[in-house]
Amino acid sequence: MPERYAVIIGSGFGELGAGKPQPVEENRFGRPSAPIRHINVADTAVMTLSRHGDEHTIPPHAVNYRANLLALLDGGVTDVIALCTVGLVTDRCAPGEVAVPDQLIDYTWGREHTVFDGGDGVVDHIEFTVPFSQTLREKLLAAATSAGVGCADGGVYAATQGPRLETAAEVDRLERDGADYVGMTAMPEAAIACELGLRYACFALGVNRAAGRGDVPIHSDLEASTGIAREAAKSVLHHFFTGQN
Ligand code: HPA
Repeated sequence: MPERYAVIIGSGFGELGAGKPQPVEENRFGRPSAPIRHINVADTAVMTLSRHGDEHTIPPHAVNYRANLLALLDGGVTDVIALCTVGLVTDRCAPGEVAVPDQLIDYTWGREHTVFDGGDGVVDHIEFTVPFSQTLREKLLAAATSAGVGCADGGVYAATQGPRLETAAEVDRLERDGADYVGMTAMPEAAIACELGLRYACFALGVNRAAGRGDVPIHSDLEASTGIAREAAKSVLHHFFTGQN
C-alpha cells in the first residue's frame, strides 16, 4: 500500500497549516482538535492536523489524541510525522536545532491513552519496544541530510504532563533516567498511533534548554529558538516530500 502522510503540527507552520479544511467529524473517541487539511508539499499530497486546535487553545493534557489519530486513520493516512517542541535535557542538540528521537519514557498521567479501553470488548497489548517507526525516522534523517540541516539522530524523549514546565530537580531526574529531550505531546500520541497500526515518528524541535540547564530564563529566548527550529523543520519536510515523488 502506498504511503499517505500526515503531519501533526503545532502553531506557526505557515503553509503547512493552510489548505482547505475538511469538516471536523466526531468519531467514536469524540472530536478531533481541528479539521484535517489537504495540501500539496513538493507535489506530494499531505494531510495536516493542528494538535492544539487552529487557535492553539487546547493544552497538551487536554488534546483528544485518540480522536485525532482515528480521524487520520479514517482519512487513509499510513504514516504520521509528529512535530513536537522539546526542552533540551542533554547537549544532544541545541536550541534552534531539530532531532528525531528513537526512544521515549512516559511520565504523563490521567490522559486517555489507549484505544483498547475494554469499551468494545477488545483488549490488546501492543509491542512498544521501539516506539517510533524506524523507516520513517530514516526517511526524515535522509531528508535532513539532503536539506543540509543538522539533525540529531536518536535520543530519548521524556513525555511530561505539563502544562507547566519542569523543576530543575525533575529535569535532573529525567537525565538520570536517560532522557535527552522533554516535551508534553508525544505520549500518548505515539502509543495510540501504534495501536491503530500507523507508522509514527516524532520530529522534535529543540526550543529551549530544559529547566536548570540554561543560563537564562526559559522564556527569554524561546521565541527566537522556536522560529529557527521551525524553519529547519520546514526545510527538512520540504525535502522529505520532494523525495516521495
Ligand atoms: N519542557 C516540556 N515541554 C517542553 C519544553 C520543556 O522545557 N519546551 C518545549 N516543550
